[in-house]
Amino acid sequence: MTVFVLATANPHKADEMREIFDSLGIESRPRPEGVPDVDETSDTLEGNALLKARALAAATGEAAVADDTGLFVDALDGRPGVFSARYAGDGASYQDNVDRLLAELADVPDSRRAARFRTVIAVAFPSGESFTVEGVLEGFITHDARGEGGFGYDPVFAPVDGAGRTLAELTPEEKNALSHRARALRALAEKLAS
Ligand code: IMP
Repeated sequence: MTVFVLATANPHKADEMREIFDSLGIESRPRPEGVPDVDETSDTLEGNALLKARALAAATGEAAVADDTGLFVDALDGRPGVFSARYAGDGASYQDNVDRLLAELADVPDSRRAARFRTVIAVAFPSGESFTVEGVLEGFITHDARGEGGFGYDPVFAPVDGAGRTLAELTPEEKNALSHRARALRALAEKLAS
């Protein structure tokens, strides 16, 4: 059976991905130490996910899975989008990014705070073959940060079916049941099964 090497070095994402892979009966293993990072030079999630997956497949000689996620806010014409990690500048912390987002949306009413997370997962095989799948989670940006769970923009993102709670107020199991990453991983499982 194919074992998928995970490209992410982010422990939160690696945990989420491993749990979901486990629940689907797919074997995965963490990124080996010493594999160099790839510059995310594309201006699309698809492009960056493929760059990361292809580089890891080439470096390890194994099937590789990489994801790239962005938060797309309607009132900001889709920003921060592909630049979500560096929204408040290079080296920005999760808190810096959340602070900037809330500041930019300070005067935006509830009716215009719709947003969505998009995750693109790329799979690359040592043969050079590759494909992408995606998962989307619709929601809105809250006025204040709430909750201790998750990471990134979770404290200010309330999914449409989350009863008003932010992703950071959900248990890890609840987040994994509905998240953009879980949806993308389910699409991946369906694709691999076919
Ligand atoms: P990445 O390119 O997949 O690392 O994601 C870019 C940025 O999006 C991260 O630095 C986080 O700020 C944010 N992000 C990614 N996934 C999530 C999530 O599940 N919840 C909240 N923020 C996320």
